Order: sequence, then structure tokens, then C-alpha cells
Amino acid sequence: MTIRTLTAPSRLRGTIHVPGDKSISHRAIMFNAIAAGSARITNFLPGADCLSTITCVRALGVEVQREATDVLITSPGLHALREPGDLLDCGNSGTTLRLLTGLLAGRPGFAVLTGDASLRSRPQRRIVTPLRALGAQLDGRDDGDRAPLAVRGTRMHGGSYALPVASAQVKSALLLAALGGDAPLVLSGKIASRDHTERMLQAMGVELTVTPEQITLYPLTRLPAPLSLRVPGDPSSAAFWWVAAALHPDAELTTSGVCLNPTRTGALDVLRAMGADLTITHERVEGSELIGDVTVRSSSLYGTEIAGALIPRLIDEIPVLAVAAACAHGRTIIRDAQELRAKETDRIATVAAGLVDLGATVEPTGDGLVIEGRGDLAFRGTALQSHGDHRLAMAWAVASLVTRGTTTIGDPDCADVSYPNFWQTLDTITQV
Ligand code: S3P
Repeated sequence: MTIRTLTAPSRLRGTIHVPGDKSISHRAIMFNAIAAGSARITNFLPGADCLSTITCVRALGVEVQREATDVLITSPGLHALREPGDLLDCGNSGTTLRLLTGLLAGRPGFAVLTGDASLRSRPQRRIVTPLRALGAQLDGRDDGDRAPLAVRGTRMHGGSYALPVASAQVKSALLLAALGGDAPLVLSGKIASRDHTERMLQAMGVELTVTPEQITLYPLTRLPAPLSLRVPGDPSSAAFWWVAAALHPDAELTTSGVCLNPTRTGALDVLRAMGADLTITHERVEGSELIGDVTVRSSSLYGTEIAGALIPRLIDEIPVLAVAAACAHGRTIIRDAQELRAKETDRIATVAAGLVDLGATVEPTGDGLVIEGRGDLAFRGTALQSHGDHRLAMAWAVASLVTRGTTTIGDPDCADVSYPNFWQTLDTITQV
């Protein structure tokens, strides 16, 4: 296992083009895989997760040519996809496994989807139960709760389903399954989560209506049109630099071209509420998404409460927001975030353990964390572990920027899952 050794730099400066959004990159591949024809995707995220999606769609007969962040994808269309000849390996990627299971459940053919040890330990009943209710033939370990998942594709019935968890992966899996169904699908309940699936399917001509209470998808009467797009910068990646700049005493960092879709900007709202010196400029619309440049400077942060409707808007940013909270003045309470227990690691447990090692006062709860902010930057240098979780590796890197002494991070390379150039960018902004 590799180990990275870090010490706090004297300044942080720079403009960072954060890599393409992970959720949008996955969807750009998967949705173009069901359209007949070619599409060009630029600023694609070449992180390990999205490369898993490319590997899987290639196994379905889709042609994908990639050069760095430029992708040309050509598909024979949903009805001409072929049955994969081997296991579909989704690697570490929950989005690949869940969305593809939905997609394959609703069309003829047999497939088995699997992944690494972390992915095989994550709960899948959340997609398997509602997909089965719509007619899907699915099986897996623990009565379908754990991958490998076996899918015998079939024609889905429409119907209605109230989502019990605010999960874009579950929502998207159901919508994809219903594309080839025999009646409309109506989703209600906790539909407020990232909405890239809804936006992109609509842009491709799929008949889909969205109200605050429900989403209705009408089965395809003709194939979706290919959608060429430039992927906006990933706010979940930019958040590491926002927190780094807010915490460091001599910092100014700009992240440019970041997706500002309101379902993704919870971390900006929280940092503002904590007192961060943060400005957004050059707001513009690109394709189906609002983007802009975000600049953060050294700030005095105060504790806050992160709960309720905010949680799905910042779920992936909680590890780094917890680092911010540990340095802020006063207590931060994170509630309603039990979903953290079902991520790449149990992030309530792993974040709490790492912060305690850094000398912070943290109490893990059933659905979140209570963090007693120190009001100073007195983390102590220590040996931290990523546990193979990309967002932990990067959150600990941010903590190391405001730590006395030396920090080491075990298995830092897993940052590649969502941020291939993270460590190079860190070197660039600290050597100024
Ligand atoms: C994602 C949805 C979220 C998020 C994940 C990506 C997506 O997961 O944590 O990183 O692209 O749909 P859930 O749907 O499980 O909340």
C-alpha cells in the first residue's frame, strides 16, 4: 500500500479546473448507450468509476473511443444492445451497478453485475425491491441485497412507487427500467435528489414530466436522440478546495466551470452559513446545467446544523465539511445522514475515527456526527487511512493543509476513483 506524507504549506493560491462531474459523466455514457447514433462528450471524467461504465457499455456492443477527456460514443440503440459475454465489472462504482441494473432489467437478455469488495458489500435491496415490483427478474446474494446481481431482462410494467430514500441512483435505476415498459412509471416520495437523469433524458427527447411531488416517465415510442455535451466541473470535487481555502490562513482558490445545479450546491450553502468568504462569478448555462466559477478565501468558520432537505444536496461532501466543522468555532450537528453508512465505506464511522485521530472531538450518532469545533487549526499530525474510500483520502489531504507536524495518508491513490489529478493539483496550489 502506498503512503503519502504531507505538511501544511504556507499559502494556497490558484485557479483550478476541477474535473468533469462524475454523475453527469456516467449518465452521458449510459444514456448515449441507448440512443442510436453517435455523440461527442467533452470534459468527461476519466476517473476509475466512469471508466467502469465505459467498460460495461462496451460489453453491450457500444463503441466508445476515448482520448483523455474527449469521448466519441456510437451505439446501435437500446433494442440492438447485445447480451454481455461475461460478468459486467462495475469496480468501485455504485452508480454504474445501480443504473445499469435498472437499464438491463427492462430489456431482453441476461447479465451479471459485480464489483470490488466495497461495492459487493453495499446494499442493493433499495433497487431490487422496487424493480421487482415493476416486474424485473433479479437475484443476488442475500436475496438480492448484495452483488453479484443477476438480471434476466423483461418488459416492465408501469405503475407507481414512492421512494423511501432520497437516492438519485435508485430514482435513475427505476426510470431507466421503465423506458421499455408497457405503461408510464410515476415516482413520488423522496424524489428530491440530484436530477441529472431527468434533465438529460428530457434533452434526449424522452417523455418525462417533473413536478415537486412526482416524476412521470412515459415508455419510449422512439429511441432517444444522441446527446453531445460538455460535462461541467464536479462540485463534489471542487468542495475539497473550497474547504481548504476557507480553513487555511493565507489562501485564495478559484474553481472554474463548476456545476451549480441546485440539487448539488448544498456544500456552498453550508460554507456560506458557516461564514466562508465565498464568491460566485461568471454564472452561465451550458447544456442542461448552470455553471460558474467559485472563489473562496481564508475565512473564520462557525459551527452549524446540517440536516433535512440539505442532506441529499451535499451527501458526498460531508467528509470534507466535517473537517471544516472540526476547525470551526462551536458545535456542528449533522443529522438525517444515515445514507452515509451505505457509501464506499461507512462514512459516519470512518470520518469520526479519522477526525478523532487528528485530535478533534467528535461523536458519531446513528444518522450523523456531532463535532465540537476547536476554533483553531490545531489538528495534530498523525497517520490516517483512506480505507480505499476516495472522498476520505481527499478530506484527509485537506486536513493536512492545516495540521501541525506531518500527516500520512494510507492508500491515497483511491482518489483516482473520482479525481485523477487530485495530488498533482494539490502540489500546484501549495507550491506558490
Ligand atoms: C450518485 C448519487 C448519490 C451519490 C453518488 C452518485 C449518482 O448516491 O452519493 O456519489 O450519480 O446518482 P445515492 O443515489 O445513493 O444517494
